[in-house]
Amino acid sequence: MNELDALVDAATGSFAQAATPADLENAKAQFLGKSGRVTELMKGMAALPVDEKKVRGAAINLAKQAIEAALTARRQALADAELQLQLQAEALDVSLPGRQRQQGGLHPVSLTLERIEAIFGSMGFDVAQGPEIETDWFNFTALNTPEDHPARSMHDTFYVEGGTEAAPNLLRTHTSPMQIRYAVQHVKQHRALMDAGGVMPEIRVIAPGRTYRVDSDATHSPMFHQCEGLWIGQNVNFKDLKVVFTDFCRTFFESNDLVLRFRPSFFPFTEPSAEIDIQFQTGPLAGRWLEVAGSGQVHPNVVRNMGLDPENYIGFAFGMGPDRLTMLRYGVNDLRLFFDGDLRFLSQFQ
Ligand code: DAH
Repeated sequence: MNELDALVDAATGSFAQAATPADLENAKAQFLGKSGRVTELMKGMAALPVDEKKVRGAAINLAKQAIEAALTARRQALADAELQLQLQAEALDVSLPGRQRQQGGLHPVSLTLERIEAIFGSMGFDVAQGPEIETDWFNFTALNTPEDHPARSMHDTFYVEGGTEAAPNLLRTHTSPMQIRYAVQHVKQHRALMDAGGVMPEIRVIAPGRTYRVDSDATHSPMFHQCEGLWIGQNVNFKDLKVVFTDFCRTFFESNDLVLRFRPSFFPFTEPSAEIDIQFQTGPLAGRWLEVAGSGQVHPNVVRNMGLDPENYIGFAFGMGPDRLTMLRYGVNDLRLFFDGDLRFLSQFQ
């Protein structure tokens, strides 16, 4: 191999070893730079006779072109490699599943409350909301519940400080105080009409909401839901209660052969009082009596506390448990599941 071929080989090898553009420029300087080896060869020609100069010059030029071609090729290769690295770093893995935003939904008990409101709404009942922190008066006294009633004990009721209208002192143990609150407003609104000898338009309302008791097991939670119902007029009787509640249950459970039983019971605020049981004729719960509500004819003392004359106005009330209705409707056997906030459970109702 002659000297020039060896030089081309040396340059190509040196370029190949350059791992970065900077290395490559250094290598280039060694061969093509001002005092590089090709330049030195050119300078060395000065002493040669003219004939030899021509031949030698052409040979050196060929070698120089070969070295420049090797340089260009290596520059391109390094640039390609760098681009390749960059592409890899910025690559998107299109096979990775996207992060989806989960679709929210209503809580099963909220679904039940909506259903209750829609059904009673279709029967002409208003829907009322009231405070969860109540006074003794609305929660007990106005509802004819005596001083020594067990519900008033610390074992059953969460008390807080206070005890005045401005500073209520307990977490309501039921939605029944809404009977008084709603009726008092309604009566006030129609007082003038009644004073002028007119008849008050009927009170027809349900009051759903949260209620609280010192209680916790598979079927009791310290916070639970109730829905109160109240219908007061001049001639509203137990038959009306039976018709309305039977209609409600059959619509709610979408079961026309559902049977209801009104079992005599006691509540301070109703007289007579009845516990309402239902029985499915088909399905997994068929044949069993299941308690769903308390009810009764509103006690005269309670009617009086509403601001009405019990000789003139009469009606019925009921209080049911939407949590229990939800459990029966969906076949859930542990109430606590509703309040644990576990999406694996909750998402099944969407
Ligand atoms: N408030 C009662 C309770 O929490 C339920 C109840 C019973 C409500 C009879 C009523 C009623 O309106 O008439 O156990």
